[in-house]
Amino acid sequence: MAMALNLLQGQQSEWALLRRHHTETTFGVQICGAHVDVMTRCAQMLAENVDVDFVDINMGCPLDLVYQKGAGSGLIGRLNKLEEIVVGMSSVLDVPLTVKMRKGIHDNKNTAHSVINRIKQLGERVALITLHGRSREQRYTKLADWEYINYCAKEADPIPLFGNGDILSFEDANLHKQNTNICGIMIARYVNIKPWIFYCFDSSVLFFVRYVNIKLRIFTVLTLVFWFFVRYVNIKPWIFYCFDSSVLFFC
Ligand SMILES: Cc1cc2nc3c(=O)[nH]c(=O)nc-3n(C[C@H](O)[C@H](O)[C@H](O)COP(=O)(O)O)c2cc1C
Repeated sequence: MAMALNLLQGQQSEWALLRRHHTETTFGVQICGAHVDVMTRCAQMLAENVDVDFVDINMGCPLDLVYQKGAGSGLIGRLNKLEEIVVGMSSVLDVPLTVKMRKGIHDNKNTAHSVINRIKQLGERVALITLHGRSREQRYTKLADWEYINYCAKEADPIPLFGNGDILSFEDANLHKQNTNICGIMIARYVNIKPWIFYCFDSSVLFFVRYVNIKLRIFTVLTLVFWFFVRYVNIKPWIFYCFDSSVLFFC
C-alpha cells in the first residue's frame, strides 16, 4: 500500500514501493487516500508513469491514523465519497480498478454487502473486489468470517470477489474455493511463514511439498526421541535397564 498523497508529494520512500521486478508477471499498486482529487490525480500519475497491471483502492487499513482521516477502512462508512473516488479513478485509468475491503468497521455489524451493492450500481468501473473476512475492530483477532465472504460473493455477482483471511495451505484454499462462490483467494500473512505456498497450487509441487512435510515431521519426532535419550542417558545411565521389567521393578 502506498499513500496517495505521499506519492503526489514525491516522497522517495513511497515511490520505492512502486518498483516492479522483472520476474513479477502481474503487478498491481494499492493506494490509500480519503479525497477524490488526491486519489484521482494519483491514479492518473500511476497510469502515466508506472508499469502497472491494475490499481487497487485500500478500504481495509485499520490504523487509527488512516481511519480517522476517512481513508482505508474509514471509506467503508463514507459511501458517497467512495463512489466519487471510484468514478474519478476509473475515468483516468486504462488498467482495471479493484477494491480491497474489510467486512465492516464494527464487530457484529457487517456492512460490506451494502458497499458491494453501491459499487455494483456504478456498472463496470470496479473489476474485482477482495474481501477480508474481519472487521476493523477485530484487526487480526478471531477467525475470518468465510460464511459472510460467501454471502458477499453472491451479492457481488457479476463482479468477481476474492476471499481473504486465514488461508494457511493449499488445502484451505481449495476447501473455501469449493464451498463458496468466490472467484479466487488472496493469501497474505502465511506467505511469510511458508514462502513456497503459491507453488503448492501446481499439483506436482504439491506432491513434493506433502512428501517433504511428512519427512520433516518424522525427522522432528526422531530428533525429539534422540534428544530425550541423550539427555536422560547422561542423568540416569541405567535408564535402558529399566526396559527390562524385572529391573524396572527394582528401579
Ligand atoms: C503487517 C501487515 C500489513 C498489511 N498491509 C496491508 C496493505 O498494505 N494493504 C492491504 O490491503 N492489506 C494489508 N494487510 C492485510 C492483509 O492483506 C490481509 O487482508 C490480512 O492479513 C488477512 O489475510 P491473511 O489471514 O491471509 O493474512 C496487512 C496485514 C499485515 C499483517
